[in-house]
Amino acid sequence: MRHKAKHRGPVITMNWNTTLEVKTRVAVGAGSRQKLASVLSQIGAGKKVLIVCQPATAVHWLRDLLDTLPQEDYQVTTLEVPDGEQAKSTEWLLRIWEHLEARGFERNDTVVGLGGGAVSDLAGFACSTYLRGLNLVLIPTSLLAQVDAAIGGKNGINLPSGKNLAGTFYFPKAVLADQEVLSSLSPADLRSGLSEIIKYAMIEETVDKATDYDRGPRPLLDIVDDLLQNPVQHDDPTLSGLISSCIKIKLFVAAKDPQESNLRRCLNLGHTIGHAIESLTEYRLSHGEAVAIGMTQMTKYAVSLKKLPKDNLERVKDLLNRAELPYELPKGTNKEKLISLMHNDKKRTADKIKLVLPVTRLGVVDFDYQLPLQDLSKLV
Ligand SMILES: NC(=O)c1ccc[n+]([C@@H]2O[C@H](COP(=O)([O-])OP(=O)(O)OC[C@H]3O[C@@H](n4cnc5c(N)ncnc54)[C@H](O)[C@@H]3O)[C@@H](O)[C@H]2O)c1
Repeated sequence: MRHKAKHRGPVITMNWNTTLEVKTRVAVGAGSRQKLASVLSQIGAGKKVLIVCQPATAVHWLRDLLDTLPQEDYQVTTLEVPDGEQAKSTEWLLRIWEHLEARGFERNDTVVGLGGGAVSDLAGFACSTYLRGLNLVLIPTSLLAQVDAAIGGKNGINLPSGKNLAGTFYFPKAVLADQEVLSSLSPADLRSGLSEIIKYAMIEETVDKATDYDRGPRPLLDIVDDLLQNPVQHDDPTLSGLISSCIKIKLFVAAKDPQESNLRRCLNLGHTIGHAIESLTEYRLSHGEAVAIGMTQMTKYAVSLKKLPKDNLERVKDLLNRAELPYELPKGTNKEKLISLMHNDKKRTADKIKLVLPVTRLGVVDFDYQLPLQDLSKLV
């Protein structure tokens, strides 16, 4: 499918250096996907390029991307993986490795992930492990991948015993976050991304204090409030601003704490409960929907501990409601099973689990809140 370019605003390019001395170019803005050829040339990439895509991105954006790569300079192959979590499996990891091996990819060649978070996770993991790492370029095509999954160097695949249980930290050479590709996204997938945007708004002040991220004149929460006055359109300029701000927050957090020793944990607000809900519902609820419920439960818990005023809980529910996201546990949830799934969380130790708790006011979190495992039932 071919897509006509509309009037575009500027593409913002950020050069991001982590404490691991890895440089990632992050281009944010309409049309940024068309920078792929120039990125490959800037990093001195080899001729071979594998584009990993998923069914929807193959239909809507693959041809468009292939047209931007000069045929005389690159030998491009493509691999379409299944939709959603199914792709994040050892089976598809192996298929990517075999594809790279059969075509003689070398360390200077490139894997491009063109898709949502499932593709950036799978392509990132495959790319980081084949020959101990090829060039990785991510073109996130869902809102959730643009603001979260494709940013910050974490990737992973699922194992039969749980989600994201195998993974690496591996930093892409470039991320091209292009709002135009969101035009083909379903309303449900747009909403899923909004959930992560609300999460960033709920941690903004903590990130501002701990890093060089500069809050703008208005809190992100107020800007999200503006965005949700009307049904959200993919090309809303307020959404563009929010995408850039969320990417900045994640880059600043991941630059300060690339391997999640402390600050980076704040990005997990609502995720312990969220991941358990995703597993319990066998992924019928999207990542964003499950995280929305998780954030509400953590806010409710903070209110019960008197660490947050009650009206803050009302505000969170109102934002989620206007974003058409759920904020209550699904009816009939088996709470015992949910708690037992939370025990599998990677952030638990023998007798405690580290959680992110909203404290004081929305925007501030305690990212080192330790809950004894026997108290997990208080969260649900
Ligand atoms: N590594 C990280 O730091 C990190 C962070 C957050 C989430 N994640 C992972 O990301 C995944 C969720 O990401 P997601 O919500 O993007 O899921 P996804 O990749 O499954 O995409 C959601 C759906 O949107 C479709 N889609 C994507 N782009 C499209 C487009 N432009 N037009 C039409 N359809 C499009 C996909 O085909 C899919 O059906 C989860 O696996 C989660 O664990 C990873």
